[in-house]
Parts: sequence; structure tokens; C-alpha cells
Amino acid sequence: MSADTQFDHNSAEFIRDPFPVYYRLREEDPVHFSERYDGYFVLTRYEDVRRALLDWTVFSSAQPGVTSIPMSVRRDFQEIPLEVDPPDHWEYRKLVSQLFTRNAIARLEPGFRRIAAELLEPIQTARMGDFVQDYALPFVSRVLALFLQVPEADAQRWVRWTKDIFHGRLTDRARADRASAEMIAYVDELSAERRRAPRPDDVFSTLATSRFHGRPLTSQELRGFGVLLLNAGQETSVNGIGNSLWYLAEHVGDRQRLLENPGLLAGAIEEFLRFMSPIQLLGRTVRQETVLYERTIPEKSTVAVCYGSANRDAQIFPAADQCMIDRHPNPHLAFGAGPHTCLGAHLARAEMRVAIEEVLARTPHFQIDDAADIEYTPHGDLRGFWKLPVRFR
Ligand code: HEM
Repeated sequence: MSADTQFDHNSAEFIRDPFPVYYRLREEDPVHFSERYDGYFVLTRYEDVRRALLDWTVFSSAQPGVTSIPMSVRRDFQEIPLEVDPPDHWEYRKLVSQLFTRNAIARLEPGFRRIAAELLEPIQTARMGDFVQDYALPFVSRVLALFLQVPEADAQRWVRWTKDIFHGRLTDRARADRASAEMIAYVDELSAERRRAPRPDDVFSTLATSRFHGRPLTSQELRGFGVLLLNAGQETSVNGIGNSLWYLAEHVGDRQRLLENPGLLAGAIEEFLRFMSPIQLLGRTVRQETVLYERTIPEKSTVAVCYGSANRDAQIFPAADQCMIDRHPNPHLAFGAGPHTCLGAHLARAEMRVAIEEVLARTPHFQIDDAADIEYTPHGDLRGFWKLPVRFR
């Protein structure tokens, strides 16, 4: 692999099955350089990925668009707190962190169940459906609407924006930019409304009324927070749910174990996240030249940190290429590590648990309808299904 500098996480081959590529890189070329996308280094071993995530002084996130390789939509504002390094990062993050705790999310769970039940009903009746298009996708966006205290009907627009931004960024830039502009206008309006009429325990109200270094947040900062929440909280969770349901469709034995022993589900979800990480890789910019395995990574280089590969590293996970729903311990990096560890992890876990529990309770005997109709998400930094047709026995 070292001689081949054409690694491309968006190639069709990689999207279909990235794991043999990761394996070769971990074994033979742990600081791989690819010439694609103006050149980027690729870190694939668990310890290197973890170290890079923890060391923001070298591997910085402080640049609009840095986490996306190639950069997605051009922006003149930072997504907050994702594209800010400590110490400001901590200050921003703590403004809202109390709204993302396990307890705060638990209070919303009855609403999550109602949404899941409503979406499953027509699928149950038809005895067939698409677990991504008809279930995970609308479920995640409606749950996010509930969490953000906006009308669930708004979520329909978000689904289109997310699709246009994430799927269109490689093929239809104008469309991605248009969707991004619409999302920004929506976030600006919502922030202004919450500044006028704040609500209790609400993210946008908290931001609109809180202070940073003794002053209110600027409209650019509110925009940076809001756009990140809409972007970070959708396709990731859709992938988490879709990947888990795909696995359970294909592995009837494990599905039966979960039906007989629901206590295994929380651990199984961690293993699904490890085994099929919804985010495979994100970018960083190197702030000062660094040397790794005798290879120099120059200042200003782009580096991909591959969570998806770290999570298959056999140095850390015995039988790493096997999905073992009772794996313990499971120190996976699917939610990242260090300062930027996923702020929405409790929400994501709750979404996955409720979505899977409701399927297992209502329609436990499902199978992939026609494998030929399965579609993967069309880019390799996220891993999941865009179409997952199933039918029930
Ligand atoms: C299964 C679903 C999800 C996965 C796998 C996931 C994964 C991740 C990862 C790997 C990061 C670290 C990014 C980095 O290192 O640069 C991250 C950050 C973040 N995630 Fe998630 N995420 C999920 C769902 C969510 C949800 C539902 C929300 C909220 C609505 C959310 C909000 C965030 C935010 C705000 C950050 C930035 C945190 C910071 O910079 O301090 N995520 N996520």
C-alpha cells in the first residue's frame, strides 16, 4: 500500500468494504499519504488515532470545514464547538452540556417511543418497508425536532438539507450550497425567535441568552452552534440505527439472543458502533510539524483520523473483525475521544436503543427484502445504508 498514493475514502470499492484497506494500512503503512483531495495523511492504528484526537496542540480542529475531507460547503463561520480548539472549546461546550446529559435525554424517551411506533405502524401493516427511508431517517429527524423543541413538521426540510449537503457535496456542489444557505436561514430565524421568547431547558434558548467571556453570543456563533447540531445529529444516528438493523436482519442467532435477553442490548449497541462505525473518519489540520514512525507530517497538512479503522485494530480488540454483542471491555472510538467526544452520545444511544427495541417488540422477524436494492451512503467518511428494504415473516 505504501507505494499506492491513491487511497480515496470516497471510492466505490472503499465504500463497499473499507476493512481490508484499513487492515493493510495498519499493518504496512500506518501514516499513509494519499494524493487525493490535495493530499492527506491517513492514521489508522487505534493508539495513533486516539493520540491525535487527544492532542489538539498538533492536530487542530480550528478551521471551518476541517473535519470534512474534501471540505464540504465553504463557510465563513466555525461550527461550534466542533471547529474550535481548547481553551475556548471548553467554554463554548459547557454552555449547553447540561442539556445533553443522560437524565435530560431520559425525560424525552416517551416521545421517542411514540415517534417510533407511529413510523412502524404502516410498515407492520404492509409487512415490508425500508428501514432507512421509512424508519431511521424520519425517526432521527423527528426526535431531533423534539429535542430542539421545534415542530416535528420542520424535520422534513432537514432531511432534504442533510441529503443535499452530505450526498451532494461530491457530485452537485451548487445544490449542497443551496441547502446549506437554507439551513443557515432557518437557524438564524430560530435563534432570533428564541432570543425574543426563551423557553426553559431548550438548547437554542440557552445559547441565545447565555454569555461567553462576559458578552452575549454573536449571531455568527449562534449560527455555528445551530448548523452543527442539525448536521451532526442526523445522518450519524440514521447510520447507527440502519447499521444495527442490517446486522440483526443478517444474524438471526444474535437477534434471537437479544429477544430472549434484552439486557444484552446496551452492550450490543456499543458493539454495533464499534463494528460499523457511523463516522469512519474525520479531518484535522496539523498545527506544527510532527514526526510519526519516522515520517514527517508537515505543518498545515490535512490528516484523516480513522475511527472506523481504530475500532477494528486487533491490538486492542481481540477478534476485531467479529461482531460480538457481549464484547467486554469495548473501548471503541465511535464517538471520538478527547475534547470533541460526541456531545450527543447519550441522545444517540437512546435513539438507537428505542429504535431497535420498538422493532424487536413489534416486528422481530425481518429479513433483507432484496440485497440488490440495498444502497450504501455514497461517501466513505460516514458508513451506513441509504436504502435498506426489508420484509417480515
Ligand atoms: C450514532 C450517532 C453518532 C455518532 C457515531 C457520533 C459521532 C461523533 C464523533 C466521532 C464526534 C467527534 C468529532 C471529532 O472528533 O472531530 C462527534 C462530535 C459531536 N457530535 Fe456526535 N455522533 C452521533 C450523534 C450525535 C447526535 C444525535 C448529536 C446531537 C444532536 C451529536 C452532536 C455532536 C456534537 C455537537 C459534536 C461536537 C462536540 C465537540 O466538538 O465538542 N452527535 N460525534
